[in-house]
Amino acid sequence: MTIATHPITAKAHTNIALVKYWGKLDTQLIIPQNDSLSMTLDEFYTKTSVQFLPELATDKVIFDGEELSDKDSAKIRTFLNLVRDLAHITYRAKVETKNFVPTAAGLASSASGFAALAGAASRAAGLNLNRRDLSRLARRGSGSATRSIFGGFVAWQQGHDDETSFAYPIDEQPTWDLAVIALVLTAKQKKISSRVGMQLAVETSPFYVEWIKASQADFETVKTAIQNQDFTLLGHTSEQNAMRMHALTLSSDPNFTYFNADSLRAMKMVKDLRLQGIPCYFTMDAGPNLKIICQGADAERIAQHFQAVFGDKQVLITRPGSGISISD
Ligand code: ADP
Ligand code: DP6
Ligand code: CO
Repeated sequence: MTIATHPITAKAHTNIALVKYWGKLDTQLIIPQNDSLSMTLDEFYTKTSVQFLPELATDKVIFDGEELSDKDSAKIRTFLNLVRDLAHITYRAKVETKNFVPTAAGLASSASGFAALAGAASRAAGLNLNRRDLSRLARRGSGSATRSIFGGFVAWQQGHDDETSFAYPIDEQPTWDLAVIALVLTAKQKKISSRVGMQLAVETSPFYVEWIKASQADFETVKTAIQNQDFTLLGHTSEQNAMRMHALTLSSDPNFTYFNADSLRAMKMVKDLRLQGIPCYFTMDAGPNLKIICQGADAERIAQHFQAVFGDKQVLITRPGSGISISD
């Protein structure tokens, strides 16, 4: 394998965790405290191109059209060092990345971002990684990126070291009609990153041990629900798991929350719809933007219900998305 002589482009979608990762055993290698499980989303993604060039003295990163400062590109440059080590090369790289998802707003830009970077940078460096190894590499950038290598329903096996912590597909092309409605209530960047928020929970929440026990059970339940295409079990367990994760932010010291007034309002609307006999459940990652899990046939009318309150542009119907694609 040799270094590519043209830019390599990768496209990776974000994913929404149904059973969440919220805490690391190893912060360096990003080994999580529990297994997690997600659905890859078709409407939100990142496109990244990478080329390693002999004439560059430093890595150059263009993010959404603007060149990043050294400080802002630090995480990406650290990640490129990993790729250089793996490929035994020293050239610096030109990276261009564009998010088709709000950045750092709880819509998992770090998942699509580092999955796309892992795909483009590894191939540009002359590596031809299989998807498991690509998911291990993406993990080093951001935990949730591990799962964005695959499409549909994906599990991240916790593992205990770099070799054994990776994602695997559970059902890459679900044959049942499911939708996730994303409420983009705010595209503002969060004050407390996922990385900082979860570490605080590990170190200070008295509920942390119970969270791990509950999430391991949720993982098995959601896996069974996917195998049996049991929508109610999948939705109910995902909603419970999300609230248990958010109970960790509330019980951290200092305490904090990713909820805002609109998230609470939207949660109540979901529960009211359920009381009216419309099956739907919510989940929320590290940001106020709620996701509503529903059956495809109900998606349009549920979306309209939320559009009437939050506005057209804020409500987006997404479906299971595909895994990473990388240009030759
Ligand atoms: P989110 O909810 O969007 O995943 P996080 O706090 O987990 O928020 O991560 C946000 C961080 O992810 C950004 O500050 C940046 O470091 C990284 N990130 C986002 N998009 C990209 C991208 N396209 N390429 C590389 N890194 C990215
Ligand atoms: C709530 O993967 O963004 O979305 O590994 O520190 O980069 P780092 O964190 P990140 O955390 C994701 C947290 C979550 C749940 C999940 O996606 O499983
Ligand atoms: Co993230």
